[in-house]
Amino acid sequence: MDGNIAMIDGVITQREYWNGEVGARWARNQRRIDAVFAPLTAALFDEARLRVDSSLLDIGCGAGDCAIIAARRLGARGRVVAVDLSAPLLAVARERAEIEALAGASITFIEADAQSHDLGSSLFEHAISRFGVMFFEASGAAFANIRKALVPGGRLTFLCWRRIEDNPWIAVPRHVVLPLVPALEPALPDAPGPFRFAEAESIGAILAQAGFLDITVEAIDRPLTLARSGNGTSYEAAEAAADFAIELGPVSRLLRDQPASIRSMAQKRVADEFADRALSGAVTLAAGCWLVSAMR
Ligand SMILES: C[S@@+](CC[C@H](N)C(=O)[O-])C[C@H]1O[C@@H](n2cnc3c(N)ncnc32)[C@H](O)[C@@H]1O
Repeated sequence: MDGNIAMIDGVITQREYWNGEVGARWARNQRRIDAVFAPLTAALFDEARLRVDSSLLDIGCGAGDCAIIAARRLGARGRVVAVDLSAPLLAVARERAEIEALAGASITFIEADAQSHDLGSSLFEHAISRFGVMFFEASGAAFANIRKALVPGGRLTFLCWRRIEDNPWIAVPRHVVLPLVPALEPALPDAPGPFRFAEAESIGAILAQAGFLDITVEAIDRPLTLARSGNGTSYEAAEAAADFAIELGPVSRLLRDQPASIRSMAQKRVADEFADRALSGAVTLAAGCWLVSAMR
């Protein structure tokens, strides 16, 4: 559990966080994020085993990548409902879906808090989330609400991060950035944030308490290519990878309130570190997640 990162989330609400500068930055960089996370997305969909013509709920759908992939797989008679509390991310998702999900299932994007919004009863065969369930202030109530929306026998499948040590794509830049920023108070263990479910036991316990059955929590590791050089130099790839890690990864939280001078020093040092690791013009580091599946 990383208190330094999670604590910042305690200061403002998740709605403010994802509707502010962070939401706008994620919205601008949606293509990059989806490309980097593609190997993890593939693992999520392999596990979810979507049935054609069925209905699916995407929780914390962000800019819509998973909702759009799901709509294509469910086919024209399927149905996708995608929930998020970030207006800027939903704006991108709606625009994308109009272009990219034409032949697929209908998608309804809802701006709402998945913890408390009435998601309906016994409506969905599938519920999925790519890194959207760790930000609940009341996880027990949220998972109970999601479970109620599933049909009996329906499945929740989601991805969340394991510990920082299991995620070199986060641990390496974080190690470089930590000496540049003031030490922060440790966070409460249950505080919302990317590492809320880093310990597998807490996921199983919360899901069981919410009434889920047949819970599996599998560790998966995938290499993530943060950037590659194309026609450029390896150092350009390292700079782009540093930009990704610092602007979009969990390390961004460490630098959020820092002046431009510290941010650019962090960017330069992380790029130097990544340049040493670039291979054939690509910066690739491992990511470690829990792939979780549970049945109503
Ligand atoms: C790390 S992002 C992941 C977004 C998207 N699933 C993806 O993989 O690109 C987390 C998302 O969860 C959303 N979120 C956080 N708390 C939420 C809540 N209580 N209800 C609905 N969405 C929430 C945020 O707005 C954000 O879009």
